[in-house]
Amino acid sequence: MDKFETKGQEVDPSKPETIPKFIDELPIPRVLKPKMKANDKPHYYEIEMKEAKHQFHKLFPPTTIWGYNGTYPGPTIKVQRNQTIKVKWMNHLPEKHFLPIDRSLHGAADSPDVRTVVHVHGANVASESDGHPEAWFTTNFSQRGSTFKQKIYQYTNNQRSATLWYHDHAIGITRLNVYAGLAGFFLIHDPREDNLQLPKGKYDIPLMIQDKSFQADGALFYPENTNPPVSINPSVVPAFNGNTIVVNGKIWPYLRVEPRKYRFRLLNASNTNAYTLRFDNDHPFYQISTDGGLLSKPVELNSLPLEPAERSDIIIDFTNLKGETFILRNTNDDGDLSIIMQFKVNLPLSEKDTSDIPNFLCSDHSFDISSVQRNRLLTLSASTDHFNRPMLLLDHRMWDDPVTEKPVLNSVEIWKFINLTPFPHPIHVHLVQFKLINRRPFDIDRFNQDGFIQYTGPAREPELYERGWKDTIKVEPGTVTSIIMRFENHIGDYVWHCHILEHEDHDMMRPIKVIKE
Ligand code: C2O
Ligand code: CU
Ligand code: CU
Repeated sequence: MDKFETKGQEVDPSKPETIPKFIDELPIPRVLKPKMKANDKPHYYEIEMKEAKHQFHKLFPPTTIWGYNGTYPGPTIKVQRNQTIKVKWMNHLPEKHFLPIDRSLHGAADSPDVRTVVHVHGANVASESDGHPEAWFTTNFSQRGSTFKQKIYQYTNNQRSATLWYHDHAIGITRLNVYAGLAGFFLIHDPREDNLQLPKGKYDIPLMIQDKSFQADGALFYPENTNPPVSINPSVVPAFNGNTIVVNGKIWPYLRVEPRKYRFRLLNASNTNAYTLRFDNDHPFYQISTDGGLLSKPVELNSLPLEPAERSDIIIDFTNLKGETFILRNTNDDGDLSIIMQFKVNLPLSEKDTSDIPNFLCSDHSFDISSVQRNRLLTLSASTDHFNRPMLLLDHRMWDDPVTEKPVLNSVEIWKFINLTPFPHPIHVHLVQFKLINRRPFDIDRFNQDGFIQYTGPAREPELYERGWKDTIKVEPGTVTSIIMRFENHIGDYVWHCHILEHEDHDMMRPIKVIKE
């Protein structure tokens, strides 16, 4: 086994306690340039999925990853609101996966191991461009008679400015493909937001937070089996927790900043882990947006929870912190995952800080409850599969059971997620941005399939940090979590699922079909 030594200290990538922190500077993923740009035509981009070597830490040997254009994170796609773009997604990955495949999962038995499909998370797009889990394509295999090596997707970006992200979504294998490195930012800007004098340009920094584990030789580690039979371990649920934190592709990095305001676009792109972020000097920050765009006004916070796939843009003011060094922490953990990254306020101020934290950000609208066409009660529950392994379900159904959620185009619906499991799930709905109505505790033991719910307390209002547009929401155990949304602009096949990727792959994902009346 190789060991990588530095100054007498032995670094073993498989042992987080041997990995020195704050060695690598935070990289900023580069913004992708279109291949073709014509005034009257959609900008055209090409992105190639490739195997590549990536340096996670200065003292590690290079690690094999799968990356969009061979980079991890992938390049940032940056667009203006209402600017249509086309992206040709090309699968140039090898034929063999470098992470262990579980052939018993949906889609994995009779499909090639290496299959990909790209989804822009949070986007309102036509069904053909949404990256449906079964619309995968491979390097050299064919599906239903036709051969795909690439797909051209179109994004109209007809929605509020927001921090979206793109990632792999292939059936039964999403957890491996995202873990391998297939994730990047997709940022929508709009002139109204640009007028707000929020920190911009090099003071507007996306932070993709993931957890990873490594083998001693520096290779990515992912377990053979994330869900052993319940007879072996009855408390186990499909999950993966890494033992290092990786931000924008570097393990426990640092960032040098100027004494001024910065905007950070926080994204939890982890498979399973949820974080609660807090600066170690308890420095306050201002949340300005949720998943789907700006809040109506900034919210001052000291701590911010982020479930898998959730985004939150914050502004932090380093003006009076010149010379200081502090750490962004995760208070959900007291071990290796308790540290995210370090900030050093040691750059000179390069220009006067004219940015602002405005009192008012954006006009907001709420839904008129009387316009609701449909209320759905949807359970989250645990079960076991044919191999007596744990499995999680939505609506007590599996992925390939017939579609039951068929909202009418442009209709408003309320979905009530009834969590019958003992842990939280970040539930994500494609196509829409929704609003959280409330969470209400109920008696799990008295719930029955006719939909009888015995509430045990009053409804809880959304937390301060989740009052904006959301596409992913934490559904806490023992609560009924209600959301409201309009199925806008597109008909066709979409999905909703838990964004814990180990849950999504087995089997916490269901189809949605948006239909014409
Ligand atoms: Cu972020 Cu259906 O995915
Ligand atoms: Cu999505
Ligand atoms: Cu889940």
